[in-house]
Amino acid sequence: MGIQIEKATQTRFDSIDWKNLGFGRYFSDHMFISFYRDGKWDDGKIVPYGPICFEPSMMTLHYGQTIFEGLKAYYDVNGGVNLFRPEMNAKRMQSSAERLCIPPFDVEKFIEAIIELIKLDHKFVPKVKGESLYIRPVCFGSSCFLGVHPSQEYTFIIITSPVASYYPEGLNPVKILIEDQFVRVVRGGLGMAKTAANYAASLYAGQRAKEKGFSQVLWLDGIHHEFVDEVGAMNIMFVIDDILITPPLTQGTILPGVTRDSVLHLARQMGIKVQERSIKIQEVLEAYERGTLQEVFGTGTAATISPVGKLYYRDKELIINNNQIGPIAQKMYDTLTGLQHGIIKDTYNWIIHIDV
Ligand SMILES: Cc1ncc(COP(=O)(O)O)c(C=O)c1O
Repeated sequence: MGIQIEKATQTRFDSIDWKNLGFGRYFSDHMFISFYRDGKWDDGKIVPYGPICFEPSMMTLHYGQTIFEGLKAYYDVNGGVNLFRPEMNAKRMQSSAERLCIPPFDVEKFIEAIIELIKLDHKFVPKVKGESLYIRPVCFGSSCFLGVHPSQEYTFIIITSPVASYYPEGLNPVKILIEDQFVRVVRGGLGMAKTAANYAASLYAGQRAKEKGFSQVLWLDGIHHEFVDEVGAMNIMFVIDDILITPPLTQGTILPGVTRDSVLHLARQMGIKVQERSIKIQEVLEAYERGTLQEVFGTGTAATISPVGKLYYRDKELIINNNQIGPIAQKMYDTLTGLQHGIIKDTYNWIIHIDV
C-alpha cells in the first residue's frame, strides 16, 4: 500500500520569491512524517507543510538527540526530476542513527517517501541551472521526559525547499579560514554522524570567521590542530603534484560525504591518482611554498564543488591557482551536474529518475 496523503488546500508556490531563492528560506506544500512508538515505526504519511506541536519537555530540545540528512532533486533537461544517490543518504542516516541510539528508519521507505513527496510537489523543483529542490530528512527523540538517556519515541520528518546555490559565490572560489583555536569534533566523538551537535559546536568559530569575511572554516583535528578534517558543510580535497588527496574516513572525525565518494570514484575512473590519507596542514603549507599545491576544493550536496581561492592560516595567506577554479574541480563540477540534470548519461546507476 502506498503512503497515505493528505493534500494541502492552499499552495505556498506564489509566496516564493523565485528570482531570489537563497538557501533554506522557502518550503514546498507537503512534508512526510512518521512516528516511532511502542518499539516500531508507523507507516508514515504525507501532510501539508506546517507547524508541529510538542511539549517543552520534548527530549531533543534538551539533550540534542537529533540526526538529519541533505540531498537534492534536480530538474532533468529531458523532462522529469532526478535524485542523486539517495540510498547513500538513507544509509548514512542509519549509521548516524546508530551512533545517536536512534532506531533506524528503513532505507526503501526513506526513498519511497521522497519520491512521493517529489511527485506531489514537483512544481517546486526550479528549472534554473544551479538551483534545485533541497530535501531535508530529520529525525529526533520526541518523548516528553527529562533525564539523560535515549528517548523512547521518535519523529521522522522530510521537508523540501527550493534553493539557489548554498554559497552566494556560486562556483566562484571561496575564502576559507583554517581554524587553529576552536575544535568541532575529536576522535571517538560524533564527527562521522550528521547530528545537530556537530553544527552547534561549529557556530561560534563560524560566526567569527564570517565577521572577518570568510565563507567557512576549515577544521583541523581536535587534539593537535595538525591534521586537516573538513569544512563546515563540505569535505575538502587538495591537488598536490597531480595527486588528489583527501582526509580518510577511518578516523571517524569527518562526514562520509556522498559528493566526496562520487568525486573519488570519478577521479579514479578518469585516471587521476587518488590518496585518501591523513594530511597535515604543514604539508599543505609546504606544497604551497614549493608551488605544487595546484587546487583546493570542497565537495558537498549544497554547492556540489566549491573551489577554494584563498586559505588563511594564522597570519599566512595562500592564494590557490590564482584564485581561479582549477581543471579538476571544473571537470568534477561539470560531470556531477551533468549527471544530476540528465545531460550526461548515467552509467553509474547513481540517478533515480522520477517521471512527473
Ligand atoms: C560537515 C559536513 N561535511 C561534509 C558534507 C558533504 O556531504 P555530502 O556530499 O553528502 O553533502 C556535509 C554536507 O552535508 C557536511 O555537513
